Amino acid sequence: MRLSRYFLPTLKETPSEAQIASHRLMLRAGMIHQEAAGIYSWLPLGFKVLQNIEQIVREEQNRAGAIEMLMPTLQPAELWKESGRYEAYGKEMLRITDRHKREMLYGPTNEEMLTAIFRTYCRSYKELPKILYHTQWKFRDEVRPRFGVMRGREFLMKDAYSFDIDEAAARRSYNRMFIAYLNTFSRMGLQSVPMRAETGPIGGDLSHEFIILAETGESAVYCHKDLVDMPSPGLDVDFDGDLQALVDESTALYAATEDVHDEEAFMKVPEEKRLSARGIEVGQVFYFGTKYSEAMKATVTLKGGGEQAVHMGSYGVGVSRIAGAVIEASHDEDGIIWPMAIAPFKVGIINLRQGDTDTDAACDQAHQVLENAGAEPLYDDSENRAGAKFARMDMIGLPWQLIIGPRGLKDGVVELKERATGERQTLSLDAALNLLEKQCVRSE
Ligand SMILES: Nc1ncnc2c1ncn2[C@@H]1O[C@H](COP(=O)(O)OP(=O)(O)O)[C@@H](O)[C@H]1O
Ligand SMILES: [Mg+2]
Repeated sequence: MRLSRYFLPTLKETPSEAQIASHRLMLRAGMIHQEAAGIYSWLPLGFKVLQNIEQIVREEQNRAGAIEMLMPTLQPAELWKESGRYEAYGKEMLRITDRHKREMLYGPTNEEMLTAIFRTYCRSYKELPKILYHTQWKFRDEVRPRFGVMRGREFLMKDAYSFDIDEAAARRSYNRMFIAYLNTFSRMGLQSVPMRAETGPIGGDLSHEFIILAETGESAVYCHKDLVDMPSPGLDVDFDGDLQALVDESTALYAATEDVHDEEAFMKVPEEKRLSARGIEVGQVFYFGTKYSEAMKATVTLKGGGEQAVHMGSYGVGVSRIAGAVIEASHDEDGIIWPMAIAPFKVGIINLRQGDTDTDAACDQAHQVLENAGAEPLYDDSENRAGAKFARMDMIGLPWQLIIGPRGLKDGVVELKERATGERQTLSLDAALNLLEKQCVRSE
C-alpha cells in the first residue's frame, strides 16, 4: 500500500482526553475516531488490527471445535423476559422501541438468543456436545466509558456458548475454550494469566478471567509469580483428548481477581512468589449449568428416555479491547510496537529522497516484490522529510522498516531496522527483500 493513496490521519499533538498510552497512541496513529463517549469508528489502520485479532480468535475457536455463526446486534426483549434478565440487567442495557412499539434491545451478550436457537432445533442427546460462537458488536451503557476501546460502550466481542448433557461433559467444553484462550492470546504476543473470577450477571459457579498484567489495568489481581512466564499449551494440543491435566497445570497455583481474592490462601504462597498487581481482562469463561436452559426450557431427550435441561457455558473474548491491551503491553516512548501476528502492515518502506529517480525505482521495486510475496508493506512515498517519516513509522509501530536512500544505493545497499529492538543492518536490497519475505509472510 502506498501511503499517498491510503487514509492514515496521524496526529502530531498528544490528545488531551487520553489518559493511558494505548488510547493516546490509537488516536495519534489514526486507528480510531471517537463518535460519542465509548463509541468509535475504526479507521483503516485500526480496522486492519481489529481484523487480524478477530482472525486469530476465529482460527483458535475453530481449532478447538467451536462452530462459527452470526447473530444480530438487536434482540427482542421477550427472550430476556424469559430468562428473567430483562429487569435484572439494569441500566447497562440499551433499550429500544421500534415503530410498532415492540421492545427491543441492543445485545450486551447472547446467552438468551442462542439458548432459544438451540431449543428450536436440538431435541435429542444425540445433538450434543455443541459449541457455537460469533464475533459481533455488543452494547453496554457503561457509566464510565474510558481508556478508549478498553472500556467502550459499543465493543466487539467473540462469544461462544457450549451445550452439553451433564456437568462432566460441560467441563470438557470449558476446558476446550480454556486451552484455546491461552493459545489465542499467546499467538498475539500476549502473556495471559487465567485467574479465578466472579460470575457476575452471567451467573453460575465456575469462571476464569484471562488477565494481561499491566499497570494501567482496571482490575486488581493476585497471583503466584510463576504463572507470569508459564508457556502456552501450543497449537498441537489434541482438543478431542483429555485436557484436564493441562487445565489443572494452569490453575494449580494461586491466581484470583479482587472479587474472589482469598487473602488467607494467598498468604500460603511463599512471600517472594506473591504478586499483587493490576491487569486487563481480555477474556472470561463461565460454566453456569442449567441456569438458562431451565428457565427457557432448552431440554433434550435422554438415551434411556426422559428429558434433561442442557448444561451450558459461555466464553467471551474482548476483540476490540485487545487492540488496546496489546499496545499497553507493547510500546515505548516513540510509539506502538506491534507483534508480527496482528501488525496492520508488516514492513514500512521509507523513501529518503522522494523524486530521486533511482531511489523511487528501488522503492517501487521493493514495494512490488513485498506486496506480491504477501509481506504487506506500507510504502511512505510522501514528500515529507526523512525525520518526519522515521517518527511516523516508529509511532505506527510496524515490525520492520526498510530504509532506502540515494547515498546507500550508490554503494548498492539499503537499511533494515527492526522496530522492537531498534537494531539496524545494512545489506543489499535483494538480501533485505529475502529476509523480509521470511520474517513477514505467514507460513501456516
Ligand atoms: N465495556 C467494554 N469495552 C470493551 N471490552 C469489553 C467491555 N466489557 C467487556 N469487554 C470484553 O469482553 C469480554 C467478555 O465480557 P464479560 O466477561 O461478559 O463482561 P464483564 O467482564 O464486563 O462482565 C471481557 O473479558 C472483556 O475483554
Ligand atoms: Mg468479564
